[in-house]
Amino acid sequence: MKKTVLVSGGAGFIGSHVTVELCQAGYDVVIADNMSNCDETNYKGVCAILGRQLPFEKVDFCDVAATKALFAKYHIDALIHFAAFKAVGESVEQPLMYYKNNLDSFLNVLEEARIHGANVLFSSSATVYGEPDQTPVTETSPRKPATSPYGNTKQICEDFLRDCVQAYGMHGIALRYFNPIGAHPSALIGELPRGIPNNLVPFITQTAIGKRECLNIFGDDYPTPDGTCLRDYIDITDLAKAHVCAVTRMLEGKMDEPYEIFNVGTGRPVSVLELVNSFERVNGIKLNYRIAPRRPGDVTAVWADPTLARKKLGWKAVRSVDETLASAWAWEKRLAEAAK
Ligand code: UFG
Repeated sequence: MKKTVLVSGGAGFIGSHVTVELCQAGYDVVIADNMSNCDETNYKGVCAILGRQLPFEKVDFCDVAATKALFAKYHIDALIHFAAFKAVGESVEQPLMYYKNNLDSFLNVLEEARIHGANVLFSSSATVYGEPDQTPVTETSPRKPATSPYGNTKQICEDFLRDCVQAYGMHGIALRYFNPIGAHPSALIGELPRGIPNNLVPFITQTAIGKRECLNIFGDDYPTPDGTCLRDYIDITDLAKAHVCAVTRMLEGKMDEPYEIFNVGTGRPVSVLELVNSFERVNGIKLNYRIAPRRPGDVTAVWADPTLARKKLGWKAVRSVDETLASAWAWEKRLAEAAK
């Protein structure tokens, strides 16, 4: 029988791509989202890619009764929890909003997962490593004190899951994402930042399309080969496939431990300037950019050692940065067409 996966935050950037990959791998998916940080574009795009309507529930996971009702309505075998606020700067300005939303919602789904025996996959982040002492980072590299309430919610939620697994005999996986970028090859789903983008690639594509005047490169005096920060940019479709591997591992009872953590990255450090240059070359575009002061809170360099995911999940990133940057540009152009 087909297994059912609940994707909380399934109308968002990562959730929509994961939904597509899960369905294509043969899972039934229920999408639940409170639509607080997105519109229907990605939900419609998912349905267009799959050629059918998917069950959609408008649910705020901070609402205990609504969360209970959702788990009563469907038989959920596994839950992937994306529903959370994610802007680092905003979390510094509004910590209570971040703690309330990101922690309450996860506590509520954990409670229902416990009651109904559902497996839980939590979307964590490389932010838990902070400024690492050694690169690349492995899953056993120390977690550093969080530098923002957002980062703190990722650490706390990892701990919630670890403790629940230990106490209640549940199974859980935390995936630590590095820098997810790009869009689905169909250009039907992608990132939809509200307002001025915080992240590099949406800022690049919006500058290229003329929505932003100039890209600021935050600092060229870091102790790196070209002076700009190093990150591990992971293609969104590759990232989504890691979730299918992780869910399958949980549902097929193949876990070595009831709580596992995996890095989801490429293992390749790329500098900000390299990424900008690749974008220009791949898409034949001259980007207007300037060197600006460092952005407070940025770490110099962080990239993944993805060995564990390769060995245990049978997953590795396959798409090149060039392909991914082409997909990001195709998506931005499609958005511009749709807005005409
Ligand atoms: N950058 C610029 N100009 C911009 C935006 C970003 O130069 O306009 C630079 C940043 O300084 C950084 C790099 O591009 O060096 C990547 O920045 P992003 O904002 O795209 O990504 P971050 O690495 O800061 O953050 C990402 C996620 C967070 C997550 C973190 C974990 O956005 O959610 O990785 O490391 F917490």
